[in-house]
Amino acid sequence: MARYQSVGMFTQALSLVAFSAITVSGRFVSTGASVQLNDVHYFIPPFSQGQIYDPLELRKYSNASTFVPVSIVAQPCTEDELHDLFANWTSQDDVWQPGFLETVFLATSDDSGSPMQKIYLGDTASTVLRLQEPSTPSGPYFLAPWTGEIYQAYRLYEDFAGAFTQSLLQGPDKTFQTLSAQVPSSGSLTIGVPSRLYFTPSKKQPLAGIRIGVKDIYALAGTKRSNGNRAWYSLYPPANETGTAMQNLLDAGAVIVGLQKPSQFANGETATADWVDFHAPFNPRGDGYQDPSSSSAGAGASVASYEWLDLAVGSDTGGSIRGPAGAQGLFGNRPTHGLVSLDNVMPLSPRLDTAGFLTRDPKLWDTANAALYASNYTSFADKSPKYPQKLYLLDFPTTNDSTARMRRKFASDLASFLNTTTSTLELEKEWAASGPASLRAHNISEVLNLTYTTLITKQQTKLLRDPFYEDYSAVHDGRRPFIDPIPLTRWGWADTQPDSILDDAIANKTRFMNWFNEKILPPVDDPLTCSSGFLLHTVSTGYAHSRNEYLSPSGPPFGFSNSAISGMTENPDSVFPLGQVSSFSPITNHTELLPVTVDVIAARGCDGLIAKLARDLVDAGILVAPRTGSGLNGGTILLRRDEEE
Ligand SMILES: *[C@@H]1O[C@H](CO)[C@@H](O)[C@H](O)[C@H]1NC(C)=O
Ligand SMILES: *[C@@H]1O[C@H](CO)[C@@H](O)[C@H](O)[C@H]1NC(C)=O
Ligand SMILES: *[C@@H]1O[C@H](CO)[C@@H](O)[C@H](O)[C@H]1NC(C)=O
Ligand SMILES: *[C@@H]1O[C@H](CO)[C@@H](O)[C@H](O)[C@H]1NC(C)=O
Ligand SMILES: *[C@@H]1O[C@H](CO)[C@@H](O)[C@H](O)[C@H]1NC(C)=O
Ligand SMILES: *[C@@H]1O[C@H](CO)[C@@H](O)[C@H](O)[C@H]1NC(C)=O
Ligand SMILES: *[C@@H]1O[C@H](CO)[C@@H](O)[C@H](O)[C@H]1NC(C)=O
Ligand SMILES: *[C@@H]1O[C@H](CO)[C@@H](O)[C@H](O)[C@H]1NC(C)=O
Ligand SMILES: *[C@@H]1O[C@H](CO)[C@@H](O)[C@H](O)[C@H]1NC(C)=O
Ligand SMILES: *[C@@H]1O[C@H](CO)[C@@H](O)[C@H](O)[C@H]1NC(C)=O
Repeated sequence: MARYQSVGMFTQALSLVAFSAITVSGRFVSTGASVQLNDVHYFIPPFSQGQIYDPLELRKYSNASTFVPVSIVAQPCTEDELHDLFANWTSQDDVWQPGFLETVFLATSDDSGSPMQKIYLGDTASTVLRLQEPSTPSGPYFLAPWTGEIYQAYRLYEDFAGAFTQSLLQGPDKTFQTLSAQVPSSGSLTIGVPSRLYFTPSKKQPLAGIRIGVKDIYALAGTKRSNGNRAWYSLYPPANETGTAMQNLLDAGAVIVGLQKPSQFANGETATADWVDFHAPFNPRGDGYQDPSSSSAGAGASVASYEWLDLAVGSDTGGSIRGPAGAQGLFGNRPTHGLVSLDNVMPLSPRLDTAGFLTRDPKLWDTANAALYASNYTSFADKSPKYPQKLYLLDFPTTNDSTARMRRKFASDLASFLNTTTSTLELEKEWAASGPASLRAHNISEVLNLTYTTLITKQQTKLLRDPFYEDYSAVHDGRRPFIDPIPLTRWGWADTQPDSILDDAIANKTRFMNWFNEKILPPVDDPLTCSSGFLLHTVSTGYAHSRNEYLSPSGPPFGFSNSAISGMTENPDSVFPLGQVSSFSPITNHTELLPVTVDVIAARGCDGLIAKLARDLVDAGILVAPRTGSGLNGGTILLRRDEEE
């Protein structure tokens, strides 16, 4: 049986009026309160969950003039069951702790018997007050004895990975405000998460209570966004509405806890060289100074660092989810293009932009996809797929280093799992043989050399830069805002190109896409198979890439690489973590572990099949779901500063 410590005292005095909006001469608004219980930092949001008890009655038990930590047990329980229940809560939830045991409100179905008893739960004498028909879920709360109202408990964590740009508090109306709390830290935000005990997933709310970080390019009602640019943040007012994609997650019950760092305007940037306006997040893997990749950098760093965060939303235009998933050793998906509307999301190139997730948990991945992409997504959660038999390997390394060997072993394990064999895909050869007649005289590297760069720069200058410069100039006497070197160089290139190049790029993209989806990886009619095959490639590194290297100035991202395929063809392309390899770090003067991943492409619209494959491979022991820490199996993060963990 668990042994409970006694309840500590609040270390901060709280004003009696903290939560009542009173009008004196100014407008007084409560933004919540920060407290400590047994050295753990908590936040009390300003949203009452209702009056649970008559305050006059309460005075018989407590005249406390501060908030009182209480536990609510919303179903009738015997004393024995209570012991069992609280032991369960300890393992299920990171917010509840025995400090909430001093006062327990216990649901009762009859009103006979004493309204109050003292019982021992561990070595704490708990006051148990009986409650008729509680209207709130079980869990830890803070009670304001002077009103009888209760408030939810949020645990506060330090964002030691520097993954967030803003810490947010989601209101009951699903609009957002700044979470006004700060735990000790050096240059990091504080993030608050509500108790997991308040939430029960259901068919309608499959993501109930799932804690999500969102890339700081998505508009959330009530809050400003930065797009990774400080001038942008200061110039524009808070969003008045949440876009479709994030609203889908909120409707499914998700709790958004903050906005996360993108590289600037979602252009790929290298840490630390290119990150001038903001500092790149810290990749927790290995020596803690590996490049987190970009542009969904905060998403990757946070999901690899924080057990208390379930999921992060990124966006992928040319690798912005797959890169961070690779560098941090996580599952991550660039979905089929166009599965969800990207209204109220910053554009890089609408032709290429997609919204997807980074996660440690393939089951949650599927549930989250189903919520985000709604009717455009077919989940295989309750189906047995008839997996395709075609397994292509594209440019698999033939070297004998451990990263290459690990990838080849995965390909061979996957082939055995699928009861098939691998075949090598020679994309240029196939193109020369069956590419569109008008184009195949040129190889793919030539045809697509400028396509990506054209799409992102021509679209972003028109959709984002030009109106931004104009708005900024209008309020700052003709000045221009600061722009990081990478987007500035890319936009500058676009200005040297004729406008007609955009149509050329779209035409090249379309012809490559149609060819690929017809000749290489077509969908199949059988909904249980969906894709004619899987294509494995190895974009994500698996090799050291320290963030403290001096780099020569980088130009626009010309050229074609395998990471560009899915952008051009609109196919789903996901990252699977395979394991880790030893790598000597000159920073720590020690051997550290780096993640190794692989990329899996399927036919367009077969996103659910990939998520199902990930789950089945974990169940089969071929993949292991990654954990937070310096390695995929856990391990202390060198820079971790939250000593309570
Ligand atoms: C709280 O104060 C009231 C009024 O002074 C008193 O009647 C009551 O006994 C006090 N309650 C406790 C628990 O001390
Ligand atoms: C505690 O958890 C166990 C295992 O999930 C469950 O069987 C049991 O009913 C739970 N106890 C209570 C009181 O909820
Ligand atoms: C939000 O603001 C935009 C632009 O100012 C406006 O077009 C839109 O109607 C507003 N939406 C809501 C829900 O108020
Ligand atoms: C499905 O995709 C289409 C095409 O991109 C989009 O217009 C539509 O909004 C999506 N449907 C849902 C439910 O998100
Ligand atoms: C590859 O490397 C491993 C481990 O260093 C070694 O045992 C093996 O003999 C090497 N294989 C080849 C073909 O060189
Ligand atoms: C592979 O074959 C085995 C044995 O026939 C069968 O049990 C298994 O379901 C097959 N796997 C797939 C993915 O088709
Ligand atoms: C593509 O063609 C160009 C020009 O002929 C050549 O330089 C390049 O090596 C070719 N690339 C590939 C991958 O075939
Ligand atoms: C790609 O475009 C760049 C910029 O125009 C050029 O320097 C390079 O030679 C091109 N490469 C190929 C393979 O066409
Ligand atoms: C389109 O393809 C043609 C033929 O290879 C090539 O010359 C041109 O540079 C490409 N343009 C863009 C913008 O992709
Ligand atoms: C690095 O580690 C080696 C082996 O432990 C040791 O001999 C060497 O002095 C260390 N170098 C530095 C700079 O600490």
